[in-house]
Amino acid sequence: MVLQALIEELGAEESNLIKTIEAALSSEELESLRVKAIGKKGSLTKVLRGMGKLSPDDRPKLGAAANQARDRVNNALEHAKKRLENAALEAELKIQLDLSEPSAGLSLGSSHPIMQVQEEILSVMDRLGFQRAEGPEIEHDFYNFEALNFPHNHPARDMQDTFFVDENVVLRTHTSPIQIRQMLAQGEPPMHISGYGRVYRHDQDATHSPMFHQIEGLWVDHGVHLGHLKGTITAFLETLFTPETGVRFRPSYFPFTEPSAEVDMSCVMCGGSGVAHDPAANNEHGKCKMCKGTGWIEILGAGMVDPNVFGAVNFPKDIRGFAFGIGVERVAMLKYGISDIRMFYENDHRFLSQF
Ligand code: PHE
Repeated sequence: MVLQALIEELGAEESNLIKTIEAALSSEELESLRVKAIGKKGSLTKVLRGMGKLSPDDRPKLGAAANQARDRVNNALEHAKKRLENAALEAELKIQLDLSEPSAGLSLGSSHPIMQVQEEILSVMDRLGFQRAEGPEIEHDFYNFEALNFPHNHPARDMQDTFFVDENVVLRTHTSPIQIRQMLAQGEPPMHISGYGRVYRHDQDATHSPMFHQIEGLWVDHGVHLGHLKGTITAFLETLFTPETGVRFRPSYFPFTEPSAEVDMSCVMCGGSGVAHDPAANNEHGKCKMCKGTGWIEILGAGMVDPNVFGAVNFPKDIRGFAFGIGVERVAMLKYGISDIRMFYENDHRFLSQF
């Protein structure tokens, strides 16, 4: 009987294939076996060519037998694939578990220089009696400007190179909105806070980055006066830099302080003399490059809190306070003699591992 012969042929071919598959040693070998078995010109397919010799009744029987054979071969292929994968994994695990291998020398990470300097500044402020506070980086116009006495459409808002999220929402341009949030949350004086975090301005060059870090001191109490501001800032800078650091106050303008001051400190490069010891630190006229020979560098903004700010948070009329704001990157650049702010954000391991 032709059907019987063909089915036997199919069976012989199947067990032949399965034996070879079980002995296969690589996935390439498996792939070529798969083609050889069930591809268009495969050996199982070939048996089906005998179909023509069969009666119409027998044809489906051969078809069914061929399908079953193909399923079993596929199964064997699947099995063999898993077997090879497991063997490969096991081999890999064996290598990794060789505890006698010498180590490749792991290097430890460290906190980012900006985070180190931020911590240094905050810890000086901790000792002066300020309490740390944070706030949202995406801020309402009210906290970033309005309550800080920036009138609507006033050009003072241009000082801040604002990124707008929408008409009333901005990326905070300074840490001063933390003052407002803290005063509103506490509802009454006294307040002694150091607000800190990221701030954003669309400004970018060697000394400006669109994202940078600020720290803000706010000291509110009865009887606080300009002398407290000068004494605190002087002690703060002498501690942060050196006890010899000179400090001077120049009149300036901020909407939220009155009077306002720009604070300079003696140049860290030339010690305030205008001519650096190291000739490489001087320009072609023999003057210190960092302070351009003036002996002073600008380090922070400060002032006595404007009464309108206290009005916005419903603090008593006779309350007084001082505030100051300092850029963390600026301090880090001065402390470590870094001339390009972008180095902090390039994530160059050679740079970062020096701190
Ligand atoms: N918020 C000001 C700025 O970013 C800095 C500042 C803070 C000035 C507090 C005075 C008082 O420019």
